Amino acid sequence: MSIDQPIDRQWWKEVTAYQIYPRSFNDSNGDGVGDIPGITEKVGYLDSLGIDLLWLCPVYDSPNADNGYDIRDYQSIMDEFGTIDDWEALLAELHDHDIRLIMDLVVNHTSDEHEWFEQSRRRNSKYEDYYYWRDGPPDEPPNNWGSFMGGSAWTYDERREQWYLHLFDERQPDLNWRNPAVRDDIASMVTWWLEKGIDGFRIDAINYISKPDGLPDGDTELSPTGIDVFGHGPRIHEYLRELYDRTFANYDVVTIAEMAGTTVDMAGDYLGEDGDGLDMIFHFEHMDLDVGPGGRWDTEGWGEWSLAEFKEIMSRWQTELGEDDWNAIYLGNHDQPRIVSRFGDDEAYREESAKLLATFLLTTRGTPFLYQGDEIGMTNTEFTSLDGLDDPMTIGFIEDLIAEGTIDSFEDVRDLVNYMSRDHSRTPMQWFAETNAGFTEGDPWFPIAENYQEINVEAARTGESIWNHYQSLIALRDELEVLVYGEYELYLPDDEQLYTYTRTLGEETVLVVLNWSDEPVTFDVGAIETDDAEPILGNYEESPDNPQGREFRPYETGIYRL
Ligand code: NOJ
Repeated sequence: MSIDQPIDRQWWKEVTAYQIYPRSFNDSNGDGVGDIPGITEKVGYLDSLGIDLLWLCPVYDSPNADNGYDIRDYQSIMDEFGTIDDWEALLAELHDHDIRLIMDLVVNHTSDEHEWFEQSRRRNSKYEDYYYWRDGPPDEPPNNWGSFMGGSAWTYDERREQWYLHLFDERQPDLNWRNPAVRDDIASMVTWWLEKGIDGFRIDAINYISKPDGLPDGDTELSPTGIDVFGHGPRIHEYLRELYDRTFANYDVVTIAEMAGTTVDMAGDYLGEDGDGLDMIFHFEHMDLDVGPGGRWDTEGWGEWSLAEFKEIMSRWQTELGEDDWNAIYLGNHDQPRIVSRFGDDEAYREESAKLLATFLLTTRGTPFLYQGDEIGMTNTEFTSLDGLDDPMTIGFIEDLIAEGTIDSFEDVRDLVNYMSRDHSRTPMQWFAETNAGFTEGDPWFPIAENYQEINVEAARTGESIWNHYQSLIALRDELEVLVYGEYELYLPDDEQLYTYTRTLGEETVLVVLNWSDEPVTFDVGAIETDDAEPILGNYEESPDNPQGREFRPYETGIYRL
């Protein structure tokens, strides 16, 4: 955006978003599972933090092979979570608090218990072609594609005597988007939710919906095998644009597409009216920084990342998106480790580094997405056995390695699991220091992290806490338009300790200094004139002063008006 360009203001660029994993947020009826009334009870809490957009992970009817990402019925609510009336009450309560609601749209696949799949299995003529079915001997899958959950992406169905495709768990068969009837049904279902007055969707795994003709074998060096051919397939833009024209375009809503493997150069074709109409993308470039060359579950080469590389990725997205295109800013979610354990220091500098991550999330250009528990600095937990895990992806990867003889047992990958498992972010929310962290009065479906007596919402709302820092940052972003719309400029790209950038809108410039390390560092950037710098917010007790020549303590941050 150049300085004299009018600002393309949109409500969804200005909001701060918060993601809820319903199963682990708040249990209202003592069955050990979080639920919708439990979320409704906490709407005031979200409001007090300053949240204005809620992303709700799937709450639809599901047999829970993948915690709700395997949908049995798109138009009803999972029993454990409540009823459609409970959901209506949540929507009303959110809107009363001026908080918008986006739902999770999972349409690359359904559950194998979805009526469409049941009918397809029986070769009911309308549904016969709703999924990817292929002939072949029962011991030879139709191609070499692997599943994200481990093993082959194909399962042989004895009933239909054919193979079906599932890029995720075998209980998540892939929908056949080539079939216009599938696209019609999806569009009607989306419209049904939009008519209920929701404010948009986070769209799951959507870059996998178009599979190339002939389903050719993929590169076996990549993980999972086939991702080079089924990611961003040949008709993806056609399908997305069609869905947009039939649904989202008719409502004032926001869409954020989860699309691994998207580069900034590809983004423009997906985003905005001149693309497929999507508003934002959750790209994965920074999620891939600290994984081994063979991907997330490579047992070699994981855990290390460099700040210079991180800055290069984030800055590329900050500056190279098209003029009207927009970023979704995130560091974690329900599929990733806890952010303070991964990108900060969850021991000596937990408070400081959690506040630094908050500062980064709330001061770069794009819509910030917080994940439940970030605001109190929740950490990774410690898994000690395969039985202690819940996530089918982590379990699938361990089982694969054992089956192929690469490892003997869980112990051989314990460190990687404790670094990377999706289960870390799925431990229940820590509300109070009392039993079960105030999450449930029953037996929690998944163990509460052991540190709940120290790390919980009640404790975090007093003093100069992480929670209060988030609240101040959200308020600051609401107040300073430059933090939303200002242009981003990076300084010191190669520095491995300092992440320094400015945001500029018209006459106004804000400087952000982050010492993203556990060692002190002196800020000395001649290119930035700081004589009149006015400190706005820092993360150590004393407020920051003129940054030039000043030593920034471990994980210290400062925001200045220049
Ligand atoms: C991405 C979701 O975020 C994840 O939790 C899920 O397992 C897969 N897509 C499949 O739906």
